[in-house]
Amino acid sequence: LDNGVMRVPPMGWLAWERFRCETDCVRNPHTCISERLFMEMADRLVKDGWSHAGYKYVNIDDCWTEKKRNATTGRLVPDLKRFPNGIKPLADYIHSLGLKLGIYADLGNFTCGGYPGTTLDQIQLDAQTFAEWGVDMVKLDGCYSTPEERAIGYPKMSKALNKTGRVIAYSCSWPAYDGGLPPKVNYTLLGEICNLWRNYGDIQDSWDSVLNIVNWWGKYQDILIPAAGPGHWNDPDMLIVGDFSLSEGESRAQLAMWAILAAPLFMSNDLRRIGRTARALLQHPGPININQDPLGIQGRLFFSTASLDVWKRQLKGGRYAIAVLNKGTGGTPKKVELSLSSLNITTAQFYVITDVYEDKPLGLYKPNASFHFSVNPSDVLLLLVEPLSCKCKCKFV
Ligand code: DGJ
Repeated sequence: LDNGVMRVPPMGWLAWERFRCETDCVRNPHTCISERLFMEMADRLVKDGWSHAGYKYVNIDDCWTEKKRNATTGRLVPDLKRFPNGIKPLADYIHSLGLKLGIYADLGNFTCGGYPGTTLDQIQLDAQTFAEWGVDMVKLDGCYSTPEERAIGYPKMSKALNKTGRVIAYSCSWPAYDGGLPPKVNYTLLGEICNLWRNYGDIQDSWDSVLNIVNWWGKYQDILIPAAGPGHWNDPDMLIVGDFSLSEGESRAQLAMWAILAAPLFMSNDLRRIGRTARALLQHPGPININQDPLGIQGRLFFSTASLDVWKRQLKGGRYAIAVLNKGTGGTPKKVELSLSSLNITTAQFYVITDVYEDKPLGLYKPNASFHFSVNPSDVLLLLVEPLSCKCKCKFV
């Protein structure tokens, strides 16, 4: 969508995967969906270096409203106990910290969690309400909608948001509800009306879930890659790094893959309790810079053998990111031998190869020289390959 925002994949925090639809603030005051949760996450984003690293959005998901719309105005009403001040003051607070606020709606009679949805004739009113509150992003979910309603409703919300005069980024769950593939899904149209879209099922807190998503992205890459670019992104769903299930290697792997895929980086974790290792990883400039590359070209699965995937993403300045993902469960590290020419990287005479997570140059390589390394099971090696810009007259032997 050409509305000036999200020229690189958006980064931020989103409540759903970690906090779901917890509404009991008496028993669970720290984890229920409430203004307090979003204010605390916003505070952490600023105080703990997240915002500096690029994470700017604070996104509300399902279960934030009363069970009924306002009987007189027909507007959505934030839960009176959990959001006693309403959304506008929350948006003001988040803006005062230099952050942006995202909100959630669902096309149809109900949200997935059973809260009031947005029917076709309520689209304009809800867009208007969100704009008046100062919302910066809207995710439109698709539970309780038919394919016909989606075909009308998703473009209609795009127009309605535009008509408010406020720049509001638009996240569409449309393709995920239509199987994610043509002919049911029209990616050209999505790119015109949405800034990002969920193509596939929900991520869960498990490595299996991450692998399942990565495999689907690999399988259908010829459809997905041309759909992505500045202002319009495929969304493989939230980062679960810092939650309960992923090991350190798996966490590195999820982040590396989301960087290669030019994916939106919305963490869904508890920033008040996240460990040092997960925090350092998520704030590592290496994968973030790859993710945020201005060309916005989504990476591709270049080849795979048995349980090893080699992914390649073209970056600005003749550079490349390579992710070697070991999906295997065999107990020992996999030994790999690669050359740049086997990855079709041949233009420059020499390349500097860096291990991104270790921040360590591995050396200078001619395209057809082989390099050897090993990758642990359920882990990744993320490499940055940069042409050597040699202004002097260098001589290499
Ligand atoms: C389905 C979506 O795909 C999830 O991301 C989340 O928004 C839930 N619905 C909320 O009910």
